Amino acid sequence: MAFSSTLNHEELTFPEGFCWGAATAAYQVEGGWDADGKGPNVWDTFTHQGGDRVFRNQTADVACGSYARWEEDLKCIKQLGLTHYRFSLSWSRLLPDGTTGFINQKGNCFLKIEGIDYYNKMIDDLLANGVTPMVTLYHFDLPQHLEDQGGWKTGAIVEVFDAYAQFCFGTFGDRVKLWITINEPNVLAFCAYEKGLFPPGIPNPGTGAYQTAHNMIKAHAKAWHSYDSLFRKKQNGQVSLAFFSPWIAPANPASVTDQEAAKRAMALALDLFAKPIFIDGDYPAVLKSQVAAMSKKQGYLSSRLPEFTEEEKRMIKGSADFFAVQYYTTRLAKHHENSEKELNCLKDIDVEIFPDPSWQVSQQDSWIHVVPWGLRKLLKYIKDTYNNPVIYITENGFPQGDPAPLDDTQRWEYFRQTIQELYKAIHLDEVSLQGYYVWSLLDNFEWTEGYSSRFGLYCVDFDNPDLPRTPYKSAVEYAKVIQNNGIKGSL
Ligand code: NOJ
Repeated sequence: MAFSSTLNHEELTFPEGFCWGAATAAYQVEGGWDADGKGPNVWDTFTHQGGDRVFRNQTADVACGSYARWEEDLKCIKQLGLTHYRFSLSWSRLLPDGTTGFINQKGNCFLKIEGIDYYNKMIDDLLANGVTPMVTLYHFDLPQHLEDQGGWKTGAIVEVFDAYAQFCFGTFGDRVKLWITINEPNVLAFCAYEKGLFPPGIPNPGTGAYQTAHNMIKAHAKAWHSYDSLFRKKQNGQVSLAFFSPWIAPANPASVTDQEAAKRAMALALDLFAKPIFIDGDYPAVLKSQVAAMSKKQGYLSSRLPEFTEEEKRMIKGSADFFAVQYYTTRLAKHHENSEKELNCLKDIDVEIFPDPSWQVSQQDSWIHVVPWGLRKLLKYIKDTYNNPVIYITENGFPQGDPAPLDDTQRWEYFRQTIQELYKAIHLDEVSLQGYYVWSLLDNFEWTEGYSSRFGLYCVDFDNPDLPRTPYKSAVEYAKVIQNNGIKGSL
């Protein structure tokens, strides 16, 4: 490798075997929303209802058409030279009403085989090309039938999710060795069930996030135990779940109240989910006391944050084989006493959260302020808080607006700085980071932002019925990083 002429720039080579990936999710790329017997999921219903909850009432009925165009996606994966590809299974493509019972009872092999074959081919093709699959069981697209029965608000879903997980481990686990059970349970709990921004679209302020988080944590833990007791010995894979987490820093680093505020904000954003699973089966003490106090002021007889039983705590504690985190941005926090009149989980912690106005945004009006150093801080926090776990960054990315220039030089600069921060995390902070997945392989359906926000390494022309994929400059540059297992940079 040639050395740069700039003195303080050197080759930053990553540890051998470092995983360089990209990620997608079924609803965001597949299309084929009712193809070959697929059952409807909550996003199918939500987008079909219109009502201006999604940018221009767009849907992912077609999206990138990946259900019919897997070979084209594979070409992109090969061009990049990815070592790992993360994708999700569409639960209702495999089990149209979400339950394994439905298929077995009807004996409807046709439906079953269509869904399974699609994913079998993806997995086999990836492996044949030396790419390791990481498979997410559930990425926001709950089968509609299950939502109709209460979805994540009911405890009954824990068993149903476990049955689905066992079905997937049993069907694909001979070849898939890296599993994510639930993608961003924290985002789902807050966006879907607290605020009603995601389907089912009904806000439940003050209770929705806690109630559904509680069931998601149990569902994950139960599925992990099923893997551990029924599949691990034979399949020898690893199972975790993927958390969204910003880095949240004190607005005034010298202020003790701001430092405490930032800790409470991290507790709500990440530790609410991660501490039970990685430490002791229980929620952070600071959250338990804050929510209990606020609930009491509001006239509740008990805390709005549910409690785990001792048996549940034993089940939850230690139910993950690695730490998966998805980082997009950083925020500042300062103490702000909230009134009990504001019924809202986010208001339970007496914190005001905001970006530094000097930070660039990746795209106009985006929530993503570009703060590469925040990722290094977050990784160090995870190392220190969670006993130095093996960490995968299962998503990181920067959107462009639509139309997005193929020459995305500025965006690549964000990626480059981010990769440099990863290097520092590994070599200076000694974080056990094993992989990095760019969100996303393709421009795709960005939930309520529809196709207006483009995260792809490959541009997808959604106006062309052939949905051609064209690499952005970032794709070309990322391929070089992968090939060199590193980047030029400075420490
Ligand atoms: C995380 C989610 O998992 C993914 O679905 C989404 O598109 C990206 N964040 C970008 O917002």
